[in-house]
Amino acid sequence: MKAVVITTPGGPEVLQLQEVEDTQINEDEVLIKVEATALNRADTFQRQGKYPPPKGASPYPGLECSGTIVAVGKNVSRWKIGDQVCALLSGGGYAEKVAVPAGQVLPVPQGVSLKDAAALPEVACTVWSTVFMMSRLSAGETFMVHGGSSGIGTFAIQIAKHQGVKVFVTAGSAHTSHPASSVFYEVMLC
Ligand SMILES: NC(=O)c1ccc[n+]([C@@H]2O[C@H](COP(=O)([O-])OP(=O)(O)OC[C@H]3O[C@@H](n4cnc5c(N)ncnc54)[C@H](OP(=O)(O)O)[C@@H]3O)[C@@H](O)[C@H]2O)c1
Repeated sequence: MKAVVITTPGGPEVLQLQEVEDTQINEDEVLIKVEATALNRADTFQRQGKYPPPKGASPYPGLECSGTIVAVGKNVSRWKIGDQVCALLSGGGYAEKVAVPAGQVLPVPQGVSLKDAAALPEVACTVWSTVFMMSRLSAGETFMVHGGSSGIGTFAIQIAKHQGVKVFVTAGSAHTSHPASSVFYEVMLC
């Protein structure tokens, strides 16, 4: 299969599409033929050599993906070949196929394209589980998002505004992404 390989720690130029060995699944995993993957801050840290993948994880970047299940481990009953899914990965999303434990696989929500679903498992699940499930942010409350321009921040703002929450954010500056100190805004538009 083909995968995006970090040839040496560095900038985007160190990423190369290469032919690599096919991924094998164990009995608790499914094999996903990747439709789309996403770019998170952690991927850029991994590319720079500052965020090594956990032991046993794929050496290729990519912490989430969407795609179609093409093989199922013998202990897996929830998923079947042909299911369209998205998944949280410990790595390996930047490849044609990725092996993932069945418990990290999610259905694609109705109304969301398979491609768009690749961006849900990391950011959407992090924001939803921490802000809305654990902290129970509710309509009429006020919510402060530090780093409002981040992937996490922009998603949190949109969902919170949609839920009728008043949102404030901090950002590095009005224009740059290299802050010396934070500035503070109220988000008026969704
Ligand atoms: N992405 C995920 O899926 C995920 C999952 C779990 C946890 N997290 C955590 O969530 C945080 C954000 O991650 P991300 O991937 O969304 O990051 P990101 O998209 O790379 O954005 C990081 C942002 O932080 C802002 N920032 C830096 N210094 C700041 C300061 N002094 N004041 C205010 N804003 C500042 C920068 O905004 P400016 O443009 O204003 O400079 C930058 O855009 C990280 O702590 C990450 O570990 C992320």
